[in-house]
Amino acid sequence: MRLIEFLDQFARKPGLRENILLQSKCGIRFPEDNGTPARYDFSASHIVNSAEGILRRLSTDYLDVLLLHRPDALMDADEVAEAFGQLKASGKVRHFGVSNMSAGQIRLLQSRCEMPLIANQLELSLHKIGWLETGVHVNQTAARNDIFPEGTLEFCQMENIQLQAWGTLAQGIYSGKAAGQQNETVHKTAALVQQLAEAKDTSTEAIVLAWLMKHPASIQPVIGTTNPERITACGDAVHVSLSRDEWYSLYVSSRGVSLP
Ligand SMILES: NC(=O)c1ccc[n+]([C@@H]2O[C@H](COP(=O)([O-])OP(=O)(O)OC[C@H]3O[C@@H](n4cnc5c(N)ncnc54)[C@H](OP(=O)(O)O)[C@@H]3O)[C@@H](O)[C@H]2O)c1
Repeated sequence: MRLIEFLDQFARKPGLRENILLQSKCGIRFPEDNGTPARYDFSASHIVNSAEGILRRLSTDYLDVLLLHRPDALMDADEVAEAFGQLKASGKVRHFGVSNMSAGQIRLLQSRCEMPLIANQLELSLHKIGWLETGVHVNQTAARNDIFPEGTLEFCQMENIQLQAWGTLAQGIYSGKAAGQQNETVHKTAALVQQLAEAKDTSTEAIVLAWLMKHPASIQPVIGTTNPERITACGDAVHVSLSRDEWYSLYVSSRGVSLP
């Protein structure tokens, strides 16, 4: 079903809404013709206007979850709390969360918001492995590419903030699209994913997602595809079980060098 048809049905079928969990995000502003660059905006007016605009476009009355997309360098936690409070009181948004935020940023925001921040959406995948590298490099001199904010994974687990992963399929480089890649490590990892998929009679997408979901942080993958076959292939991940050895084989293959 195309998105436009879905939205049409969504608006016409009153019972449909309660069976769907709707999450959206706000806080990024696009460049403007007058030369104003792309920027972040957590002002109360932008947050409230964004949420109302989403509701209008989806012809619905409420969002289940609203996330702040990327940290605004000018974030005023009190102002965000005011906007969240307004949206909650009017029933327009039920729950709130963040995306791409560090433990420190979430702590600051949570200290001003009455409602719990329930989710943090980050780039976590078999390709973007900073979320694991930060941990395995503790007390190591050879830290490499550890741009993931230290302690964030642990903080979210301790505070029951759901970790959602974006970029999970890494544009398909381990699940059918490695051919265009120059990187030998990517090719080897894609071959291992393929081998595991054949051995477990499942899709390569399912292996990539099951690898992410095996982590005890209960990571929820967000998938970007709108291709029905790929959605089905991704859904198979819930039936896949990877052993510790298989999980580590994929991790070590993706990092391209042995663990410290
Ligand atoms: N919070 C954030 O900052 C942030 C940033 C980016 C995205 N997101 C969210 O995350 C969701 C996931 O998006 P993503 O871009 O990160 O996702 P992704 O799921 O890693 O990648 C999806 C893209 O990869 C393509 N792809 C996957 N497997 C492929 C294959 N074997 N061959 C060719 N193409 C393949 C898909 O194409 P097809 O459509 O053809 O399958 C799709 O365009 C988005 O919907 C968005 O909500 C959040």
